[in-house]
Order: sequence, then structure tokens, then C-alpha cells
Amino acid sequence: MDLVFRPRRLRRNPLIRELVRETELAPRQFIYPIFVSEGQGIRDPIDTMPDQFRLSVDEVVRECETLYDLGVGAVNLFGYSEVKDELATKSYDPQGLVQRCIREIKKKIPEMCVQTDVALDPYTTHGHDGLVIDGEIVNDETVGVLCKMALSHAEAGADWIAPSDMMDGRVGAIRDSLDEQGLHHVGILAYSAKYASCFYGPFRGALKSAPKKGDKKTYQMDPSNTREAIREVSLDLDEGADVVMVKPALAYLDVIARVRSEFDAPVAAYNVSGEYAMVIAAAEKGWVDREMAMMEMLYSIKRAGADMILTYFAKDAARRLKADYAQFR
Ligand code: PBG
Repeated sequence: MDLVFRPRRLRRNPLIRELVRETELAPRQFIYPIFVSEGQGIRDPIDTMPDQFRLSVDEVVRECETLYDLGVGAVNLFGYSEVKDELATKSYDPQGLVQRCIREIKKKIPEMCVQTDVALDPYTTHGHDGLVIDGEIVNDETVGVLCKMALSHAEAGADWIAPSDMMDGRVGAIRDSLDEQGLHHVGILAYSAKYASCFYGPFRGALKSAPKKGDKKTYQMDPSNTREAIREVSLDLDEGADVVMVKPALAYLDVIARVRSEFDAPVAAYNVSGEYAMVIAAAEKGWVDREMAMMEMLYSIKRAGADMILTYFAKDAARRLKADYAQFR
């Protein structure tokens, strides 16, 4: 055939393909979510999320050392609280689980970027992210508790506060609370476009935090909306968010791409528990290759425009990337 352009010329062998690769993944762009539990020497396997564990504080510190050695410099902590009440009082206890965990990580690896989830669901009996009064998830009263929780994390040494609750006005209120205490250096990673998604199922199993009644649709977003995501991101940035997040990632790659193109702020994406569990389950059945599916998914999220990715695959992917680099060095 008489062809001027033959795109296959650039796919002839691995090194040529490396030269024309458009998207790079690196371990330093991953944030590893960790479930913290009480006790000592505990690595309690999570049955809804194979190869993920609820870790006691000492084990979290060990895990952070492993991550750091692999080049993953950020973790996001979720408390697994057995003590739950109507008002989520454990969430802002200065001697609480997450607060102690932050201090221990910072003692051992001060460089690590320690991020903390801020939402009430692991600490409430009803499992909602906010306070419930007369059957309603109330906004402004919840924001008051979120500020106390955020402050207790920041005072313990957290680098970034990550509110995942989707209450209105919480980013601005948290920013004010931090600034009033002189904690200007503490950043806010806002879950800005967080959808009401079935893909959180395995996570709710891990924290025993599924709502007892109803769903989260009065605060998390309708999966059919994009313009609303843009509005949420823009409000969070106006209120002082440093980084904005789209969550989940895979079913919302278009939203990631649009947020990336419309704003200059750093964008995070959360490769959530259900996305992780689907790959593991299909791989166990022999239907997809676990490693290849993992890398393909992470590349898709990066390609869509995420600067950083929260993912349960952080360690596996970092190891995989290390092996890839070693091959061509
Ligand atoms: C709750 C919270 C959830 C996740 C992160 N923070 C679940 C929910 O909103 O019900 C989901 C993370 C995942 O599925 O991996 N504030």
C-alpha cells in the first residue's frame, strides 16, 4: 500500500513505545488509604477487600515505612471506631485513634504527607456522615462537629484534612477554624464531586459504617450530573480548598477530565473500594489479569487528568512501576 503515515511504526518495539508514551505514573502520585483500629500488632483482614487490613497504630507505622521505601509518600487515614454514638463524640477526641496514629507516624517518618478523612460516619450509630435530627441529616450543626474533628487532626500533626462528608460550606468553615488556631500550613483536600455510588460498598463493610436507614443521596451527588460537579468544585475552591477531588474515579473519568480542563487547582481522584474489589474478584475467577487491569485503570485515571490518585493498589502499582523502570535502566 502507498501510505505516507503508518502509525504502527511507533509501536514496533517496547523502547520505541516508551519514547512516545504520553502518560506517566509514578509512586509519588499515589495516596494509600489506611484503616486504623485499636490494639497492638493487629492486621485484621477485611473480607470485602482482599489483601487490605484494619491495622493497629504500630502496624500503620510499619506500613508507612514500607510505602515510603516504595516511593509512596502519602497516606489517608480512616478510623475504625467500635465506639459509636449519636453525636460522633469520638471523632474529635484529642486522644482518639486517628489523632494518636497521626502523632506516631509523624514521630517515625516526619516527611510523610499524612492526610485524614473528616466525616462522621465511622463514629455515628446511624452511619451517616452528618448528625441526624428528627430524621434529617442536618448541615450546619454537622459542620460544627467537622471543624472540631479537623482541628483535632491538624493539632496532632496532619498535613492535609480531607473532608468527605459533602455538607455545604464545610471547606470554608474548616479553613477558618484552622486559621484561627494559626494552622495556616495545613491543607484541605476537598471531596468536591463525590457521587452517591454503589462502589463504596466494600469500604462500608471495612468500617461497619453503612447507613442503618436510608441512603446518602441528600448530600452525595446524583451520578447523572456533571454541571453540578463543576459548581461544587468552584464553591470548594472559593472556600479555600487546596486540592479538589472527584470520587469515584472510573465511572467518572469524564468529570475528572472536565474539572482538569476548567480549573488550575490540583485534582485528585479516588479509585474506590468497589473498583478495587471488582478487579480482585474478576482476577480470582481468572477473567482478567489482576496486574494488567490495575495498571490500565490507573493509567486511565491519570490520562483523564488526575494529578494524584487515592488507591488501594498503591503498593502493588509502586512495585510494578519499580520493576518496569529497572528493566530499562
Ligand atoms: C465516608 C467515606 C466513604 C468513602 C470514603 N469516605 C464511603 C461513603 O461515603 O459511604 C469511600 C471510599 C471507598 O469506597 O474506597 N465519608
